[in-house]
Amino acid sequence: EDSPGDDTQEEGSDSAAPSENWPDPADASLLTGPASAAEIPDVEPLPGEPDPQFPVTITDDRGQEVTIDSADRILALDIYGTLSDITLGLGLGDRLVGRTVSDENPSMEHLPNVTVSGHTLNAEAIMELQPDLILHDTTLGPREVLEQLESSGITVVQITPDRELDGVDDLMRDVAASLGVPERGEELVSQFETEWDEAQAYIEHLGSDTEVPPSAAVLYVRGNAGVFFIMSEDNGVNDLLGNLGLADAATEAGITGLQPANAEALADLNPDLIFVMTKGLESTGGLEGLLARPGVAQTTAGQNQRVIDAPDSQLLSFGPRSPQALTALAEAVYLEPHAADGTQ
Ligand code: HEM
Repeated sequence: EDSPGDDTQEEGSDSAAPSENWPDPADASLLTGPASAAEIPDVEPLPGEPDPQFPVTITDDRGQEVTIDSADRILALDIYGTLSDITLGLGLGDRLVGRTVSDENPSMEHLPNVTVSGHTLNAEAIMELQPDLILHDTTLGPREVLEQLESSGITVVQITPDRELDGVDDLMRDVAASLGVPERGEELVSQFETEWDEAQAYIEHLGSDTEVPPSAAVLYVRGNAGVFFIMSEDNGVNDLLGNLGLADAATEAGITGLQPANAEALADLNPDLIFVMTKGLESTGGLEGLLARPGVAQTTAGQNQRVIDAPDSQLLSFGPRSPQALTALAEAVYLEPHAADGTQ
């Protein structure tokens, strides 16, 4: 078993290797060849039966007071899949009545998808599900759809769209409060903090021999829809990369929001590593297809074929699965034997 979990410290052992079970990253070639992050399991719900208490009144991210009378038929809508992950973690997954394209959790597979053409909310599909509570974070729209749903009498709670590892606890607390289970929110937070502390120590150990952090970029690609963007701090990218011991090339290039990944922008960016989503990579013809896009092959990452893919809903995960998701990413970066020509 590669993952952390054994924090017994051997007497006299090197502080860089807190556990003898942890692999030695010394041999890994950090900067060449493609790698894939392992798929992590679905969210593990907290033990015990939740017993939501209503009504609750909260102040949501709009600064608006919202009173929630029930949460029997929940929609948790955001582009990252964070809000649904937290709902599952709280043990309220059986109350979710729909999902978005970003919710790839096996436990949500049976639910109807309320997004169309990627990430557009379908008002009619949502109405048909008769939700009593919608949690969203403005990353899915159009906004008019949410306004329309709210004026039809559905309770709508807006949660912050900010994504960073240090903000996961607040996201958990806000979702738990809206779902009438604040104490379970605290339980989820403390479980997360324990797991994240362990994962962080492990990731630091893996990355410990890099003196100057290599630079990396997260590219969002959907080949068949003509979508190709550089993601930035606005999607939590600098936080994600920083936690992996990498520098965010987009921040260094002054990029915010989503910027078209054209040849000029990629030349400016010139990352050592490129991260993409697995299905996104497939949609553009895999590694070969990505490298054939203007400007990609000219970057350092492109020259070295240093492209790391992770399951789509796992790459930008800022919820209960983040410790596992970042561990899988770090192992792909620092451990996986990789070489473009198939040799070590
Ligand atoms: C489709 C995830 C951001 C545009 C998808 C799919 C997933 C996904 C899982 C379905 C892929 C498949 O089943 O083949 C995410 C996540 C995002 C994100 C996790 C951010 C955290 C974006 C952004 C855009 C976008 C920012 C546009 C600027 C699209 C489009 C499709 C799509 C157009 C449909 C592609 C098609 O049907 O051919 N996304 N996405 N996504 N996404 Fe995203």
